[in-house]
Amino acid sequence: MQTNVQEIASVDITKHQTDLLVIGVVSQQEKQGADPQHIDPPLANQLNQALGIELSTQAKQQGFTGKEGEQFVVHTLGKIPARSVAYVGLGQQNGGQSCPDTYRRWAGRACQLAKKMRADHVTVCLPAQHQPPPSGWLQAIYEGALLACYRFDRYLTQSTQPPHEVKQFTVLCEQTQPAKEIFEQASGLAQGVCLARDLVNEGANVVTPQSLAQQATQLGGNLGLQVDVLNEQQLKQERMHMMLAVGRASNACTPPRLIRLAYEPSETPAAQAKRIVLVGKGLTFDSGGLNLKPTASIRDMKLDMSGAACVFGALVAAARMKLPYPVIGYLACAENGIGAHAYHPGDVLHSRKGITVEIDNTDAEGRLVLADTIDYACERDKPHALIDVATLTGACMVALGLRTAGLFCKDSSQASTMCRLAKDCGELFWQLPLDTDNQMEDELKSTVADTKNCGSRYGGSSTAALFLRKFVPNSVQWAHLDIAGPAFAQKEEAYIAKGGTGFGVRTLISLVQNQQKIWSND
Ligand code: BES
Ligand code: MN
Ligand code: ZN
Repeated sequence: MQTNVQEIASVDITKHQTDLLVIGVVSQQEKQGADPQHIDPPLANQLNQALGIELSTQAKQQGFTGKEGEQFVVHTLGKIPARSVAYVGLGQQNGGQSCPDTYRRWAGRACQLAKKMRADHVTVCLPAQHQPPPSGWLQAIYEGALLACYRFDRYLTQSTQPPHEVKQFTVLCEQTQPAKEIFEQASGLAQGVCLARDLVNEGANVVTPQSLAQQATQLGGNLGLQVDVLNEQQLKQERMHMMLAVGRASNACTPPRLIRLAYEPSETPAAQAKRIVLVGKGLTFDSGGLNLKPTASIRDMKLDMSGAACVFGALVAAARMKLPYPVIGYLACAENGIGAHAYHPGDVLHSRKGITVEIDNTDAEGRLVLADTIDYACERDKPHALIDVATLTGACMVALGLRTAGLFCKDSSQASTMCRLAKDCGELFWQLPLDTDNQMEDELKSTVADTKNCGSRYGGSSTAALFLRKFVPNSVQWAHLDIAGPAFAQKEEAYIAKGGTGFGVRTLISLVQNQQKIWSND
């Protein structure tokens, strides 16, 4: 995709060459019975004259109010070079609080429309508004455009019409920007997100712990990341018995791998850069093990490596964006299979840390793999902060729905800073309690081992987080992101296609970039 930015004032919109001209319109809903002029962006007058119609009157007649996602399209019948003009709603501008994601979604919708109309060149236009757009709006627009163009079509051999590709993307706005650098940042980030999406969308017959290790070695190597892989023998030497137990049923075919990716900025890192470690749950398939999942729940369990895909995507994005901060990522990869070698409910496992764990349910496998990895990472890298990302519990989806991820952190002010940063990235997180009354931890009590791997159905996300906490040293700042809901989309949205969403990549990058804001006082 080629891009450029032009100042509106310097462009004669009636002469502008493009296939689809998308105009951003702010919602006027708060003004009941607003005169159609008010829906109009100023440049509509020029368009009205050239087209010989009253765009706004027509838009209004068709029920267009500028509400987010609303669209109104007219064909220009050769009266101006632009083949079609579309109004796309930006939604309300409430109290100057407009969020960069509004612009990301808007640009995403513009590109979806362009794809539908098979437009090669789309021009998006932001006329003067009551409030200036939030900082980061241009990068958000580029991200929305790039992410909306993502598709997973590598297995579509019979499709009659190949999906359309937007080749050129022009932004018309109030003031021109040094846009090249901004586009490169957006593009680096989008590539990380799309890598994560691809990895989630592939089936477990293609994405295995070994294939992930191979891809990390190859792609990471090309990008200058330092890549290490621990195979099953090395995991054994490292006493990572829980990770091995989870992977054991699949050992002959798809043995576990622990993959470490390290990014070091090539130029001098920013002053006071902290050592940040990211850990992703990489269950390339979660059958549930001997506690086998029922048909409906097992269906999409290729998604259970979304945490690892997210961390991989974030490391790739960090390198492509040339972040001035170092960051280390671990992909904890295994398959939770079934068969004669499978671990059993009732087994007591020796974790790497030395804590003994009674297996209550073999379907609570993610925390086992993560716990050994967290312990290894803390010993090897001595992080200031460790963030784990995992499709860990169905309970989190029950609590928060499909769009919002759970965030667990001992420090509430850190948690709220992280939620705020994530929101600007268009990724919603909600803080969930680690332990409200010191009773929840009782759920994990075992009579034969130091702990069980899960408690009752109630508070299932919190007990999972409490289990993980046992493996994090007190000195390490820790956050746990349960992305079971938003990792996978059941239907298309503004810049999200059905399937893997790459959720978390943008947030992780933002957390690394804003580390001073989160962990400044410790
Ligand atoms: N991978 C699942 C969680 C999950 C469910 C992710 C649905 C995405 C969609 C996890 O390993 C799991 O099976 N968790 C169990 C835990 C239970 C056995 C304590 C769950 O949530 O049912
Ligand atoms: Mn499971
Ligand atoms: Zn799982």
